[in-house]
Amino acid sequence: ALPVILDGDPGLDDAVAWLLAAASPELDILAVTTVHGNVPLDLTTRNAGVTLALAGSAAPYFAGADRPVVRPAVTAAAVHGATGLPAQNLPEPARPPAEGHAVHTLIRHARQRPGEVTVIATGPLTNVALAFRMAPDLPGLLREVVWMGGSTAQGNRTPAAEFNALADPHAAHMVFGSGAALRMVGLNVTMQCIATPDRVQALRDLGTRAGAVSAELLTFYAGVYRDRYGLDGGALHDPLAVAGVIWPDLLEWAPMDVQIEVQDGANVGRTTCDLYGVTRRPANARVAVGVDDAAFFARLLERLATLP
Ligand code: BDR
Ligand code: CA
Repeated sequence: ALPVILDGDPGLDDAVAWLLAAASPELDILAVTTVHGNVPLDLTTRNAGVTLALAGSAAPYFAGADRPVVRPAVTAAAVHGATGLPAQNLPEPARPPAEGHAVHTLIRHARQRPGEVTVIATGPLTNVALAFRMAPDLPGLLREVVWMGGSTAQGNRTPAAEFNALADPHAAHMVFGSGAALRMVGLNVTMQCIATPDRVQALRDLGTRAGAVSAELLTFYAGVYRDRYGLDGGALHDPLAVAGVIWPDLLEWAPMDVQIEVQDGANVGRTTCDLYGVTRRPANARVAVGVDDAAFFARLLERLATLP
């Protein structure tokens, strides 16, 4: 199985993403690492423990960066609820967070298995950027970084910026400038993957705790997405990044240059994607530009059905 580290800020779609990862025999989860983001770090770390307990996963989890590298923190509690996991009857974490920092964990695993480890990042890129600063050999040692973030088009937190990009644009700038093998799964594809009421019902109908909790989380999320974006449910952003690793054929990928705006102002956090190659700059990422939404949801449901 492919050795992966799941780095994120659960956050309800991060939680569903990690359930998908835990249910997928293609992946060997070496560690889960948490970062500030949707809610503050103490909550994303607790939610990591809760999510692993829900999945019945024994993977260790490590707390990471509690704030962006330069800018003040932004959170998204309005989208994810005050705790980040707005559901009843959540299990307690089976164990506390492991000793050690997320950044050291990333470096250690990458050095132990050069060329093998994939990082699936579903939050602000602070941990990955700090790891790259502390270990300049790291970009070349990872198999790949697959990030849910950015967009080839409009943003969701500001007209220009997607949340994970806005929540640490300097970190994203560092990672996209690092030379690491990168894939970006942005809003241009994730906003096509909506957890509609029928889909939420299908999760509930699984009759499992993981299905019931996923349905409850996505029901809360749907309310926000209806009010804010006029959509028929919440977007399955982070699960699509995990899907991109397990089933790359579900998405269409295009290599291109991506620059992240770090200057304050209306465009901060914008991921400027050179779709047409007009700059002639070499590609620094493979960007998802198309998705088979129906197949994605069918496979997600099938996998979540295998959890307790
Ligand atoms: C991203 O922002 C977060 O709120 C979600 O968890 C996802 O990672 C979508 O813009
Ligand atoms: Ca996230």
